[in-house]
Amino acid sequence: MQEEHLLEKIIDIAKDCGGILLSASDIERKIHQKAGRGNFVTDYDSRVQAILKSRLLELVPGAAFLGEEDRMDCTDISKGYAFIVDPIDGTANFTRNYHASCISIALALDGCPILGVVHNPYLEETFYARKGKGAYLNGEQIHASDRTLAEGLILFGTAPYDEKLIRRSFEVAYRYVSRAEDLRRSGSAAIDLCMVASGRAEFFFELALSPWDYAAGALIVEEAGGFVSDLQGRPLTYDHRQTVTARAPGVELLDVSDLLESSMS
Ligand code: IPD
Ligand code: CA
Ligand code: CA
Repeated sequence: MQEEHLLEKIIDIAKDCGGILLSASDIERKIHQKAGRGNFVTDYDSRVQAILKSRLLELVPGAAFLGEEDRMDCTDISKGYAFIVDPIDGTANFTRNYHASCISIALALDGCPILGVVHNPYLEETFYARKGKGAYLNGEQIHASDRTLAEGLILFGTAPYDEKLIRRSFEVAYRYVSRAEDLRRSGSAAIDLCMVASGRAEFFFELALSPWDYAAGALIVEEAGGFVSDLQGRPLTYDHRQTVTARAPGVELLDVSDLLESSMS
């Protein structure tokens, strides 16, 4: 199937799954605790992932499938086609009816995303990108902001499931926000990446994210003219948990090595 056509089909699937989030009921009785503080999964996360797996693999038979919720789905994505999906990014928001969650789907080839879709059903916003073909929101091309850090809005995630990283997250956030305009924390890394891609914010970081949190969003940022890397400026990979940053082209990474010492690789 041609990539353009494949992208349309993936967008349809993401929107269908968005409908499941919108019509969810009785969520409180369908929440289960996972390892780590405040880390939950709901029956809806599992259901959406199962639907994604079956419908996406119909589109690209034989592709690998890496999804957050079913460890059986964790597989080697380094060769050939692989889907990297988060059925609900922003599950804590979802359990609270906070209306800031999305479905995130990337298709990677030999370990690097070539298609990315992030669908936020609450705002009916679908962000998507194809490698080398630009990034779009609901059919309109989007671009990262041309603002500097001093004029910038900072977004960050608190790495909430890892207690050791919370203080450090705020220290890094302080270093950035003290040189910028202001700061927000949405509860969905994939949505945050799309905010940078669409020029609504200038910088995002989180000290620990998994590939399903950022694979689609990172491609969308790059295709919108922004940059993604780890916190030290090294290229992202899509095979393990790592620090993630996204920035508008006029924003430089700050040296935070003193804050990170002895906390992570
Ligand atoms: C989480 C969200 C959150 C981020 C966490 C992620 P989940 O994903 O993206 O913003 O701070 O690190 O794990 O658990 O809602 O899919
Ligand atoms: Ca996630
Ligand atoms: Ca999730």
